[in-house]
Amino acid sequence: MKSRNLYINTIGCQMNVYDSEQIAGLLSTLGYKLTDFEKKADMIIVNTCAIREKAEQKVFSYLGRMADMKKKKPELIIGVGGCVAQQEGRNILKRVPWVDIVFGTHAIARLPEIVQRVESKRCRVVDIEMTPGIDEFELPEINNQPDISRFVTIMQGCDNFCTYCVVPYVRGRETSRNPENIINEIKNLVKSGIKEITLLGQNVNSYGKKQGMCSFPELLEQVNAVEGLLRIRFTTSHPKDLSQDLMYAFKNLDKLCNHIHLPVQSGSNNILKRMNRKYTRELYLEKVEQLRTICPDIAISSDMIAGFPGESDSDFNQTLELMKIVEYDSLFAFKYSDRPNAPAGSFSDKISESEKKARLKEILNLQEHYTLKKNKAMIGSTAEILVDGLSKRNTEILHNNELQFTGRTSTNKIVNFIHNLDKGCDTSKDDINNLTGKIISIEITDGFANSLKGSPVDINYLN
Ligand code: 5AD
Ligand code: SF4
Repeated sequence: MKSRNLYINTIGCQMNVYDSEQIAGLLSTLGYKLTDFEKKADMIIVNTCAIREKAEQKVFSYLGRMADMKKKKPELIIGVGGCVAQQEGRNILKRVPWVDIVFGTHAIARLPEIVQRVESKRCRVVDIEMTPGIDEFELPEINNQPDISRFVTIMQGCDNFCTYCVVPYVRGRETSRNPENIINEIKNLVKSGIKEITLLGQNVNSYGKKQGMCSFPELLEQVNAVEGLLRIRFTTSHPKDLSQDLMYAFKNLDKLCNHIHLPVQSGSNNILKRMNRKYTRELYLEKVEQLRTICPDIAISSDMIAGFPGESDSDFNQTLELMKIVEYDSLFAFKYSDRPNAPAGSFSDKISESEKKARLKEILNLQEHYTLKKNKAMIGSTAEILVDGLSKRNTEILHNNELQFTGRTSTNKIVNFIHNLDKGCDTSKDDINNLTGKIISIEITDGFANSLKGSPVDINYLN
């Protein structure tokens, strides 16, 4: 088999990261090896995101830059996958004449066949057919990075139809994967050295319901029983479906991390109704309180949309007030943008760009205050962190015989700590291998807006 290089540019959410891994695995069976260098690639795949206007613009500006590469290397195959591919289909071929393949969110399984067709006939192919069910692949392990953490998609699509959201149109109806397939995939990942799994779905709390499978908390129990796995995370939970059983799972399952992403989107009942979120501000706050009664230390994060159509000053103030009540550990906030097919695109009372920008800034400033407050409050405490590996800053400090490592607390906070080579093994390589993927106790010595600093509690932490 001829060996060729594949470069994948993944834009967007964790689900796309997972899909890109599947794509790399499938195409490896045709002889394609992943490369980190665009210039060396025989095929470039852009895995796209359509969630907000900005993400879509990023796709087309990247594709624009591909024109030159294709001129220099006409045999280069350019593929566009993911949500923008699903949404735009054939239009992409018209708009970007140097694209060879457009494949939608349900076409990944058919990609090897499509690529072979393009290679042999040099034709252009569009496949955006939406098929029921979820494709299961037996993939060769192609990732030779010393990863300790991986995503595993447990369900696809969404049935909620929030009025601003494009997901139900580009990912289709909600479908859950069979629990046996999920557990087998996780067992294989753990065998290859993975220590932490993040389960992915648009609304994990409705996992299995439609198809009469086990419930999400039951699935979590099965994952918790996988030997060798150290940590479990998941995202995203829809507040309307956050059950008591799931709240107790945080308390009862030792591997489940102490963090929930619970997007509220707005603090105003009027806006929540227009968004079709199916919960009120009061119900959301009640669930947060219940959760904190069951798990007092749980970290809560959220998503917020600034400037949804019709959002008055008073609606916006209610969002800020809700943030002051909840005191999120972290928060992602976005300016509202119209999306194709999403009903809010035709709502009246659109908010001006400048107002959206100002509101976004206010949300982010307020959140920075709480993130910092929470991080500073951790100073002096001890946290268990799973070590991810060397931090990016590392090369600067190597000459002091020190290495900076990075890891995460169960509550999903980044902690950096210094490891002095004199204290450890003979070589830095041994130290890196020994520490990466281990859970160690760290005393937190400082807190910043985006991370914490600490030092290992036990002098024998390497053993
Ligand atoms: N405009 C702005 N933000 C959006 N999101 C989803 N759709 C839109 C949109 N049209 C945000 C929501 C969601 C996150 C993934 O992206 O906050 O939770
Ligand atoms: Fe979009 Fe709402 Fe579904 Fe989330 S729950 S993917 S915001 S439609």
